[in-house]
Amino acid sequence: MCGIVAYIGKKEAYPIILKGLKRLEYRGYDSAGIALINKDELNVFKKAGKVSNLEEFMLDQDHAGNSGIGHTRWATHGLPTDTNAHPHVSMDGSIALIHNGIIENYDALKQELVRQGYLFKSETDTEVLVHLVDFISKKENVWFGEALRLSLLNVVGAYAIVAISKNFPNQMVAARKSSPLVVGIGATGDFYLASDATPIVEYTKQVVYLEDEEIAVIKLGEELKIYNISDQEKTPYIQQLELELEALEKGGYEHFMLKEINEQPRSIQDCFRGRLNAKEGWVSLGGIKDYEQKMIQANRLILVACGTSWHAALVGEYLIEDLARINVEVEYASEFRYRNPILTENDVVIAISQSGETADTMAALELAKSKGATILGICNVVGSSISRITHAGSYTHAGPEIGVASTKAFTAQVTVLILMALSLGHKKGTVSESEFRILLAELEEIPNKVKKVLESNALIEQIAREYKDASNALYLGRGSSFPVALEGALKLKEISYIHAEGYPAAEMKHGPIALIDENMPIFVVATKGKSYEKVVSNIQEVKARKGKIIAVVTEGDEQVRAMADHVIEIPETNEFLVPLLATIPFQLLSYHIAVMRGCNVDQPRNLAKSVTVE
Ligand code: M6R
Repeated sequence: MCGIVAYIGKKEAYPIILKGLKRLEYRGYDSAGIALINKDELNVFKKAGKVSNLEEFMLDQDHAGNSGIGHTRWATHGLPTDTNAHPHVSMDGSIALIHNGIIENYDALKQELVRQGYLFKSETDTEVLVHLVDFISKKENVWFGEALRLSLLNVVGAYAIVAISKNFPNQMVAARKSSPLVVGIGATGDFYLASDATPIVEYTKQVVYLEDEEIAVIKLGEELKIYNISDQEKTPYIQQLELELEALEKGGYEHFMLKEINEQPRSIQDCFRGRLNAKEGWVSLGGIKDYEQKMIQANRLILVACGTSWHAALVGEYLIEDLARINVEVEYASEFRYRNPILTENDVVIAISQSGETADTMAALELAKSKGATILGICNVVGSSISRITHAGSYTHAGPEIGVASTKAFTAQVTVLILMALSLGHKKGTVSESEFRILLAELEEIPNKVKKVLESNALIEQIAREYKDASNALYLGRGSSFPVALEGALKLKEISYIHAEGYPAAEMKHGPIALIDENMPIFVVATKGKSYEKVVSNIQEVKARKGKIIAVVTEGDEQVRAMADHVIEIPETNEFLVPLLATIPFQLLSYHIAVMRGCNVDQPRNLAKSVTVE
């Protein structure tokens, strides 16, 4: 979490940094700050709260300068105050530094620096870094870039750092370990740095993604230099960005979340573009093609993920086990990494992550790799850390997801998992040719069917009005709709702050049923399929206790309509594909409820889009 952005060149740095911070605000929005070098002055501006607070404050400030760094914070150490905001500055006021990550040994370092006479203003772990750089630069008599490298030899933890010094106004240094950092190379000898490519894309498409323990040294008038932590020079690997600027704008929608929900017909289509052809009867996930035999013969496929991506993994478990008859386990990355799991070379660990930066998911992969397992990734962000450490993987191609609540990334992850299950099942012979072709044809129809579900928006908004003041909600589903229930509950709680739980419908009678009364809305996936009759019985059990039923049903269903308080119809589809449709009414419901409750939909409290700390 935390977003960092920096610029050095001939242009005014402030507008570039401010715009970049707005793009990165999804990574944290507790406070924001900027440091600018103007001739031989270093000016620092910091404000608690959103970037807009800082922007307002800057109206009366002199923000001249051609070099600067900016930060938007997701608080780890210390409250979100002006003082704890980044950048942090050395005691002599010469060096300023921004940081994304956590310095785990900050306390020991701080005690040593205090002994050396350093005074700390903030409660952050980051302030330790700037004092350490200052201390080493004076002690070793080296420039601040070398001092940063030497400092990092003493640091335990995760970091993406950019530092500037008013004594070296034409230079900038940056380093990364476990937190992302991209350097953009401008056409006119200027440089842009950021946590991801979104603040850079409108200025240049030439980027270098820093690897772990790499240091970027930028000197105006010279080429970008990259060193490893042992000071050996490396050749920068320059990549071409494929991101388009329009993808980062709201495109007329009031919120990114609503835009992203409505993008799903296209994002699902983009996800299977070039990967499936129903007429010719083939499916191909190019990125993992060479690993498919390994997956078919694996002991187990272990899907590791967090949050929404973990829900997608659960859908994947139902699909891969059923269609490809391969043993699948789904693990919370945060638990897996500390459980000393039994792993062998015959296991394939697949990480699912929108951002490709989630710290727990990264650590789970690293552990699996160290034990000899094959590691694969399903990520949305191209060039992200997970996509770079895995042996192979498949991108979801959903386009940038800015709203903190994941929507289109989920359906794209599920789409990749369906393609994977079909491809493996077809190759293994567990899916017959006719079933394979039927599923492919049905999958090609999904974008149109998603469009149809989105047409229920007005009805869903009406339903939202009725339940917006609920304090609790239950979500129920069976089979691959159970993860849809979990995902529905997560969406509601994270953006509207209503307490919600997802359950397999049959589990309701083992406890949650005690909560049901006339005030409790129960959202149920009751589509036609293997468990339909069972779910209908669960609905009756709820009605017998006066609970309110809002059911997602298959078009034309009269049985559930007769029992439920509200129904939302989705088009008929193959049971394996239902999660792609059934999840959408729940996304819209959460969205409308959150808007009606006056919540900040795109930036819910306490959350950040990219969780790069444990
Ligand atoms: O980037 P990732 O997919 O690895 O993120 C995992 C979770 O942090 C994320 O899905 C989170 O649960 C979302 N806020 C849910 O909407």
